[in-house]
Amino acid sequence: PKEKGWIANHLHQYEGFWYPTRILQGLLSCRKNFQALDADILLVTTPKSGTTWLKALAFALLNRKRYEDKHIHDHPLLTTNPHDLVPLLELIPDLNLLSSPRLFSTHLPYVSLPKSVKESNCKIVYLCRDPKDTFVSMWHFANKLRLESIGTNSLEECFDMFCRGMNPYGPYWDHVLGHWKESLERPEKIMFLKFEDLKREPIIVLKKLAEFVGCPFSKEEESKGIIDGILNLCSFDNLSNLEVNKTGKLKFGVENKIFFRRGEVGDSKNLLTVEMNEQINTIAEKKLGEHGLRF
Ligand code: A3P
Repeated sequence: PKEKGWIANHLHQYEGFWYPTRILQGLLSCRKNFQALDADILLVTTPKSGTTWLKALAFALLNRKRYEDKHIHDHPLLTTNPHDLVPLLELIPDLNLLSSPRLFSTHLPYVSLPKSVKESNCKIVYLCRDPKDTFVSMWHFANKLRLESIGTNSLEECFDMFCRGMNPYGPYWDHVLGHWKESLERPEKIMFLKFEDLKREPIIVLKKLAEFVGCPFSKEEESKGIIDGILNLCSFDNLSNLEVNKTGKLKFGVENKIFFRRGEVGDSKNLLTVEMNEQINTIAEKKLGEHGLRF
């Protein structure tokens, strides 16, 4: 790409989407080697849409029986960052380490998912977020990660590139639309979630998620407060204040704390100008609103 700076220097286009070098290598490898199982659960997200939160929730949901009778201090989420519990497919994790049902994640667009994911009966849970908040979260994340050697882009340049689709795993618009259309056609295969709905109605969304992945909450569990327990365990305040997430690092070296910033809806208004806000809303309406998708 002609663009300069930390993003562009490292991005390559493949099947209409942009990837950093290492991710593209991982994508090609898992396209070739990965075999989905019918019992698998795959969390697919656009970067910075709440992946960390969804990983924690899904992990806690699926493993709730295992930790039910034990003391709360034993729960893996208290000592391990969600990204180390639920690995990213394109980083080629050792999937043999996962117990059944295997739970893992990816940021891949629908078009580039491995064939066996599409053809098996495995379940896909897709999560996205208002494009303005997604962009702003990405901007802060990138700034924290930025090394001097990778150069600098201004907020305006990054914003312009995001709008034109040039960001890791972008175009955002095509990413969301691909999964949205598929979720309408195959609702039993793909559950489509928005960060904003999860924030507004966490109990309702968690119950739907539990049903979708085949382990609904029983009446007894509901009356025992298991749902609230999971939501509290996975809340922004709880996770971000754990020692492991304040001081620890992921297996691949990134600091755990950079995955926790504010975790709110509408924070983009603190960074974007009124014009930027309008620009992105106009694109969103054109690209997504026409398909019945609004944030
Ligand atoms: P902000 O930058 O807006 O605060 P991802 O996990 O996909 O990388 O997304 C990161 C975003 O999710 C960040 O948003 C982060 O603060 C927020 N987040 C992380 N954990 C969360 C939680 N448990 N509840 C709500 N939001 C959370």
